[in-house]
Amino acid sequence: MKRYWFFAFTLAALLMGCACNQHTPDRYSGWAMVNGNATGNKYSALSEIDTSNVSRLRVAWIYHTGDADTAAHSQIQCNPIVVNGVMYAVSPALALLALDAATGTLKWRFHPNNSANGLPKLNFNLNNNRGVAYWNNKKEERIFYTVGEHIYAVDAITGKLITGFGNEGKINLHEGLGDHAANLFVTATSAPVVFQNLLLTGTRVSEDMDAAPGHIRAFDVRTGALKWIFHTIPQPNERGYETWENPEAWRLTGGANNWMGMTIDQERGIVYAPTGSAAMDFYGGKRIGANLYADCLLALDAATGKLRWHFQYVHHDTWDYDPSSAPVLLTVKHNGNRVDAVAQTTKTGFVFLFNRETGEPLFPIAETPVDTSGTLAGDRLWPTQPIPQKPAPFVRQTFLEKDINPYLSKEEYEEVRLRLMSYRTGKMFMPGSLQGTVILPGFDGGAEWGGPAVDPVTGVLYVNANEMAWILKMEEVKKEKSRSENYLQAGTRLYQQHCTSCHGSDLRGSGNYPAITNAYEKFDQPAFIQFINTGRRMMPAFNYLRAEEKDAIAAFVLNNKEAYQKKFEMQPTAADTFRQLPYRFTGYNKFLTPSGKPALAPPWGTLTAIDLNTGGQVWKTVLGDDPVFAAQGVKETGTENYGGPVVTQSGLLFIAATKDGMFRAFHKGTGKLLWETRLPAPGFATPSVYEVNGKQFIVIACGGGKLGTVSGDAYVAFALP
Ligand code: HEC
Repeated sequence: MKRYWFFAFTLAALLMGCACNQHTPDRYSGWAMVNGNATGNKYSALSEIDTSNVSRLRVAWIYHTGDADTAAHSQIQCNPIVVNGVMYAVSPALALLALDAATGTLKWRFHPNNSANGLPKLNFNLNNNRGVAYWNNKKEERIFYTVGEHIYAVDAITGKLITGFGNEGKINLHEGLGDHAANLFVTATSAPVVFQNLLLTGTRVSEDMDAAPGHIRAFDVRTGALKWIFHTIPQPNERGYETWENPEAWRLTGGANNWMGMTIDQERGIVYAPTGSAAMDFYGGKRIGANLYADCLLALDAATGKLRWHFQYVHHDTWDYDPSSAPVLLTVKHNGNRVDAVAQTTKTGFVFLFNRETGEPLFPIAETPVDTSGTLAGDRLWPTQPIPQKPAPFVRQTFLEKDINPYLSKEEYEEVRLRLMSYRTGKMFMPGSLQGTVILPGFDGGAEWGGPAVDPVTGVLYVNANEMAWILKMEEVKKEKSRSENYLQAGTRLYQQHCTSCHGSDLRGSGNYPAITNAYEKFDQPAFIQFINTGRRMMPAFNYLRAEEKDAIAAFVLNNKEAYQKKFEMQPTAADTFRQLPYRFTGYNKFLTPSGKPALAPPWGTLTAIDLNTGGQVWKTVLGDDPVFAAQGVKETGTENYGGPVVTQSGLLFIAATKDGMFRAFHKGTGKLLWETRLPAPGFATPSVYEVNGKQFIVIACGGGKLGTVSGDAYVAFALP
């Protein structure tokens, strides 16, 4: 059987002529781009490390970036790339690093915020950065990477800014988004991608009513000039405009942004770009309609940005259920034919598989009626959602009494049971509600931004996932009685409008977002204003608010009694009025017991192998051990996880990602754990596999800082002794 497959594969590769490039193992021996190679499959054909010797892996080198900040929960989410023996990676404070990939020795270090080679200040415009892009021609080599609202071009050899690119070495991610977005928060977490001489990029924007539009753009890699823009929120006279019923929505609604990266079929010249949900995430009353091209997979002509085909994963999303990673290109055997396909894993726990050329689903997808009863006033949920009939979902999707965590104390169990009964639960895609709606898979998946790995030879997809229930609870916004307010009243109102979704109405934080009850100890008024102007990592920037509004928020958050009584006299603009909603989101709250234990039964982290030829599951295992439950003697609980796996030709699946801080190797055929080691801090990132002078390495960023873990500053490379 195996032999036959190998033969079929080789034959197909030969018949496909030049397109075979993509499938020959050569293509998979380096890691010159994020996710390994152009197919985005996180696969390595290197075979020095295999199932028989993986247990002998040792640390080859560790590089400490020196700029972690535990107080600020700094992180490293970067999947490093390796070109000509040089590793390009990003530090917690977003310095760009060039390391000797064999020894971990620093070659150079770049940061836009300091010309001297000292360590940059952490409190500067920090976005999460999941990797960088490399480009070369005969004369030069460039690295592109994003800090704040800019993409920088840096000389890959010298580490110097390429001042001839864009505006003094950088392009501004606001370019082409329109006047309305000029002051709105825009950055990019995913690396840009290169097609010929174009640099394609998506963005991260706010998730609230102040979101910038998520249009996808291509810039000239040499000059930085804008070459094309695809309006992910269509404008009048463009196709899809009719899916936004409110006539103001196209101009004032944002989101539908490609935050998760994209994958380019270099031979076909097609870019596959998923898009995020439309803003705001949890109430769609100002954007009635299906909301194209939010929550879509877009197949765009990479040279022109013209739409080839699209598929919408969620219609009129009010759950933040967007696709969560760059898709993977592969070739499957389907009904006896070899089909070039594109695969997408989602937060909802599905795998969608399409014919790359036509967009036709390879397994049936059923438009399935969903329960929209109890939709919040003013909104209109879509009556159906597309559900793939195959492969089966890789996580649990409902939470009933039988699913309550059996390892809780009697009291905790009863508390959870009563709360569960008070919520809306039992099906996916139920409307958000005042009483609370159980969201499972949660806001962080299912599958998350690490994305899956795919073995191009066997067509097996490996996906790590979270299984954590969250609560989507909305509350009514009281109508203002009069416009005569003082700074405290205005500050409270503006805080509720812009900040509660993450920090909670009591300032105590929610989900992964910090409490800011003691912000006055860290920030004086000017420092606070500066902070909210730039944002930091998952905190968006609020630069666009008017000075008086920021002062009022500062008065409230910093508890500045002197400023309280001043009269607040600002008239709302048209955009302000549009942004007023009858409901607000009360926070990113996981369904936990009062002592912080998951209400849902384990496993909370899983790893699943799915054969994309047949749609069948190959194996499934837990991923990680929760230390709290391990201490109680409960093993194999899995933990929440962020960052993806890599798969090797020689039979291994490597993954860190868990909050227990381990790095593991599984047998790719059986899911059996073959090796594990403790990292200096959890590796919430995807590893990279490469070789230098015939020696194979695997490297992982250990930045910690998520899920309450300590921050780290290390890149750790492993090799055989
Ligand atoms: C989308 C979620 C989100 C929203 C909305 C948000 N924040 Fe934050 N905020 C964060 C996160 C995440 C951090 C931690 C940032 C980091 O990683 O350094 C943070 C940090 C902060 C801090 C610093 C805390 C510390 O101890 O260093 C302050 C102050 C703050 N936010 C105030 C605000 C205010 C005021 C608003 C509304 C105008 C707001 N935030 C809106 C997510 C958010």
